[in-house]
Amino acid sequence: RLTGSKLSCGEGGCGACTVMLSKYDHVDKKISHYAINACYTPVCSVHGMAITTVEGVGSTTKLHPVQERLAKSYGLQCGFCSPGMVMSMYTLLRNNPEPTALQIEHCLGGNLCRCTGYRPILEGFKTFAQNGCCGNPSACNASRQDEDNVLSRLFEPSDCTPYDPTQEVIFPPELQTS
Ligand code: FES
Ligand code: FES
Repeated sequence: RLTGSKLSCGEGGCGACTVMLSKYDHVDKKISHYAINACYTPVCSVHGMAITTVEGVGSTTKLHPVQERLAKSYGLQCGFCSPGMVMSMYTLLRNNPEPTALQIEHCLGGNLCRCTGYRPILEGFKTFAQNGCCGNPSACNASRQDEDNVLSRLFEPSDCTPYDPTQEVIFPPELQTS
């Protein structure tokens, strides 16, 4: 009865069904997270791994910072792609709480949106980037100043709840021993 993940193309092309797969590497003793397309992932292939769907992110009374930023930046219209967008961004943050703007752009490479357009989605999520840009701060700061003279921001990033990795659900301990 978890209806958050969406079935759209059913062949790995749209990302609406994205969920987070987490697995423990017994050699490296490390937990890694992967955004995967649920629509073509056989259940038997995830034996011993944890799956987090969008229902495991935030709650009905408190949005996760990823969901909050998507909403505040007006990054959704019909909302069909939103669970997948959230899960791709969420997975990146679980692996790397301080991503660059370029990594954020890349993590959404498999997620299609047919109605909002990508600017508000990216603008919302790029507030998680520590340098807020592509890795060339001086070039980006200059172009941002130009932009600020022409465009108004879609929202005020400082109004958003900061991302706190210590508040995330832990990896199931029983899967670290199996
Ligand atoms: Fe489109 Fe899974 S439903 S990638
Ligand atoms: Fe409608 Fe993205 S908000 S498809």
